[in-house]
Amino acid sequence: MTQSLRPLIAGNWKMFGTNAFASDLAGSLADKMSEAGNDVADLLLCPPTPLLGAVRSSVGDERIALGGQDCHAAEQGAHTGDVSAAMLHDAGCAFVIVGHSERRADHGENNATVNAKANAAQVAGLVPIVCIGETLEEREAGRAVDVVTGQLRSSVPKGSTALNIIIAYEPVWAIGTGKVPALDDIAKVHDAIRSALNDVSGDAESVRILYGGSVKPNNAIEILSLDNVNGALVGGASLKADEFWAIAEAAF
Ligand code: PGA
Repeated sequence: MTQSLRPLIAGNWKMFGTNAFASDLAGSLADKMSEAGNDVADLLLCPPTPLLGAVRSSVGDERIALGGQDCHAAEQGAHTGDVSAAMLHDAGCAFVIVGHSERRADHGENNATVNAKANAAQVAGLVPIVCIGETLEEREAGRAVDVVTGQLRSSVPKGSTALNIIIAYEPVWAIGTGKVPALDDIAKVHDAIRSALNDVSGDAESVRILYGGSVKPNNAIEILSLDNVNGALVGGASLKADEFWAIAEAAF
């Protein structure tokens, strides 16, 4: 049933790129999009904040959305170095990634922080992409499903709907490593996320659940064809137009 949800392929550029790089990459994707017409996945680019303007002008009128990689939970204030959800919205974003494992690890973000950021994003009119995922130790201890569903229940604002929340399951040990869980393991976690969504959303069947962690053109089709996998959050492969586009094509 959830296979009918329109797939979303999101590129997380992390801390890579310059204005020139951003214009090139977003421009190539916009060209491919215009040749392809409507029968492709929803595409989303999440560049570093200073590159949003370059991406926005290169994407032009093509159906490619923009997103931030993080936002602060407060509306505004004395928070040097941070950006608010409203600022991202003002810069042309429709989405923002929150709770990425690199933020959780590098900046000590916990489920409560992530919940507050997701809430701030929703208030500002952005759709937060809430990232959850187990570490290798947790997987080896057989706790992956418990950890991930626990993160989901605490990180997702109660009352979220299919229109204002997206979940990304990203096993920490699969990010940037070239390692991907067995397809059965991905399916098992995504099914568990779908059930646990009932605790935080009245819309559990329609919320998109992305998989992230070493998604590449050569594994995208099998991952994206799993029930309850409604798209991908792509890091490394989103920095190359051909690879990212091949993943987008695999979603249809
Ligand atoms: P990766 O990153 O595709 O390079 O593993 C995914 C992510 O961190 O979102």
